[in-house]
Amino acid sequence: AAAEKGGHASFMHKEIAEQPRAVADTLLGRIGADGELLLDELRIPAAELREVDKVVVVACGTAFHAGLIAKYAIEHWTRIPCEVEPASEFRHRDPILDARTLVVAVSQSGETMDTLMALRHAREQGSRVLAICNTNGSTIPRESDAVLYTHAGPEVAVASTKAFLTQLVACYLVALYLGQVRGTKWGDEIQGVVRDLAGIAGAVERVLADMEPVRALARSLAGAGTVLFLGRHVGYPVALEGALKLKELAYMHAEGFAAGELKHGPIALVEEGLPVVVVVPSPRGRSVLHDKIVSNIQEIRARGARTIVIAEEGDETVLPCADHVVWVPVTPTLLQPLVTTVPLQVFACELAVARGNEVDQPRNLAKSVTVE
Ligand code: G6P
Repeated sequence: AAAEKGGHASFMHKEIAEQPRAVADTLLGRIGADGELLLDELRIPAAELREVDKVVVVACGTAFHAGLIAKYAIEHWTRIPCEVEPASEFRHRDPILDARTLVVAVSQSGETMDTLMALRHAREQGSRVLAICNTNGSTIPRESDAVLYTHAGPEVAVASTKAFLTQLVACYLVALYLGQVRGTKWGDEIQGVVRDLAGIAGAVERVLADMEPVRALARSLAGAGTVLFLGRHVGYPVALEGALKLKELAYMHAEGFAAGELKHGPIALVEEGLPVVVVVPSPRGRSVLHDKIVSNIQEIRARGARTIVIAEEGDETVLPCADHVVWVPVTPTLLQPLVTTVPLQVFACELAVARGNEVDQPRNLAKSVTVE
């Protein structure tokens, strides 16, 4: 088993470290020389993709968080309305589905029963189902109309890390491809995004190269009772994922919130010394959101929170209100989760180790949940 971990302390450590390679493998052969998406493997005729009038993403756990991020990309790049729902909720509320609905089922294992039941329900209503999956030949892709494999390689640790990053990449590819096929908003912005996506493995690698301060910080928080996570826009699902990782691995109470909701409740939780992780949007582009979140950080810090800020390199506006800053490389806003999630995985993993937990096999959890 030690050999299988390739010198890493656990599969979790190994799989976190493998992420640059995993995202490169998801992209392999899928971007052409002129930046066009090569996704003929989907085998859904372009004419049909042009008819799609709604996208619905269904998934569970960490894959559901990938779906939440996919919504931002799909709606922005394609202008097709997109809904995201935990697969366990989906079919029980009689969702509105027809032949023009594209259902995207995201699953690492391809065996999650809730996701499988959701896609069966969608197909019964006449919708097309596209699976984004990591496990070749598993049930979910076999029962779908089309599949895009993430090619992350086997993920052994129960809590998902590299599968998540590659699910994001696959979701971006699908969104960009839909945009390409439909001709919506296909222009310089998109070409730039494709270029940045092609170089994203290097950005993930740079984040991983500088994680010792995050590990030291995690160790210093081993005795904390609660950790809050805040984010906006695509940083909001990243905050949810950061909190989920901490629950799964460190067995700590953690909550993720949309930073704009702070004033509607969560701020009442802030007390002296409470660690709060804040995922800050880029100051470029949506700078309004950036400035609002910086004032959120000031507000919670004034109430005693210990602020841990994930910010874009060069964004010095966060310095006066941050107790700790984790810098991530500059990327287009929609791609930011690929770099901002990584420190949160490392943080949760290190906290779990510091608390003496078994990171690969957290208590009460299963890698693949094959019951509803
Ligand atoms: C379990 C795992 C999670 C995973 C979820 C969905 O709860 O512990 O890490 O995100 O199932 O699994 P899937 O294989 O469908 O992505």
